Amino acid sequence: MSSNSAPLGSALREAARRAKNVWGAVRGMEAVPGQEGAEEGLTAAEEASVERRRDVSSPPEEVVSVREEVLKTFRDRLAILHRQYGKAPHVDALLRDLAQLHPGVIRQPAGVAPQVLEMLNRENYSWAQIGAVIEKDPAIAQALLNHANADWYEGDGAPPLSSLVAAARRVGSKGVMASVMTVVLERGAIRPGAGLDAVARMVWDHMVRVAPIARQFAHGFGVDPDSGFTLGLCHDAGKLLFFERVAEVRKALRADLKFPPGFMQAALKQLHEPLGGLAAFSWGMPPDFAAAIASHHRTGSGLPSSPLAEAVYAAERLDLMVHADRHVDLTQLWNDGAMTAPMDRFLPLWEQARQGAVARELEEKRRKAEAPMA
Ligand SMILES: [Fe+2]
Ligand SMILES: [Fe+2]
Repeated sequence: MSSNSAPLGSALREAARRAKNVWGAVRGMEAVPGQEGAEEGLTAAEEASVERRRDVSSPPEEVVSVREEVLKTFRDRLAILHRQYGKAPHVDALLRDLAQLHPGVIRQPAGVAPQVLEMLNRENYSWAQIGAVIEKDPAIAQALLNHANADWYEGDGAPPLSSLVAAARRVGSKGVMASVMTVVLERGAIRPGAGLDAVARMVWDHMVRVAPIARQFAHGFGVDPDSGFTLGLCHDAGKLLFFERVAEVRKALRADLKFPPGFMQAALKQLHEPLGGLAAFSWGMPPDFAAAIASHHRTGSGLPSSPLAEAVYAAERLDLMVHADRHVDLTQLWNDGAMTAPMDRFLPLWEQARQGAVARELEEKRRKAEAPMA
């Protein structure tokens, strides 16, 4: 891990150039003219990652431009943080590590998840094909069955299912994606290492709570429920990735990292949106999902507004309000988020979701109070 004194501007440009080429290669894009040799410097791990993804077809132009915008936001925010805090050697080391966007920063999901997500991006696939792939991964298979047999489907009088093909058909492509991402995030969520486990757990619990709220909100924004669920679950993935890099850099430096006061809060706030968005692209999630993750706080991302981003913004505000037992002025929330959906139409949905979230919160508190002390 380098902590040399090369100017960050050139270091970031170099990192971004390298990241762009790794990125391009990962997604099967043409190398940028004049940068054809850029892959020479890749590590064995990077090359393995690139090889795995070479068969992914080139993404359409608008996908590339959204990704470029998220990447630009990520680089800009890294530069701002470095200007403010970069004199501290450990900040410098961490930001340089993140800037490379190497495969350790955004790891590919384990198991069959990448294969399923890639199939869902295709024009045509059958539920039998999806079922056959998911069958090889017991955790995803179980998540799919749980999802298909959840109250929101069974409540419609649907009989319980035990076949993966029938489950995939019932929940559709967005429901399959929700099941896959549940497992991807559960597998990768809590591994930042000693010292950050508690805070990562808090973030993960928040993501898990936001998912059903975003599912409830979805139709108020013209979004399908499973897309809302997936987005609610994934929206703060960038925070978990950030914690993981802190732990990895600490391991690499064999030292307890010392950050200036305020750095961790500022870095999390600035970086988790674009980092989560870049991860979503890399994991093969649809570009509108990645863009919504990259802009869910709805300030300064440079990305266009979308119903998905509005739904997850409102859902996470509701969770924070209920969890902290605070009152939120909905008009204020609507103004702060520059929301385009009509607030009046949303009011009954908000109240219904608020009551559900309060009930779940009370139930969780009761469960914790009754749990035997460890
Ligand atoms: Fe959040
Ligand atoms: Fe967030």
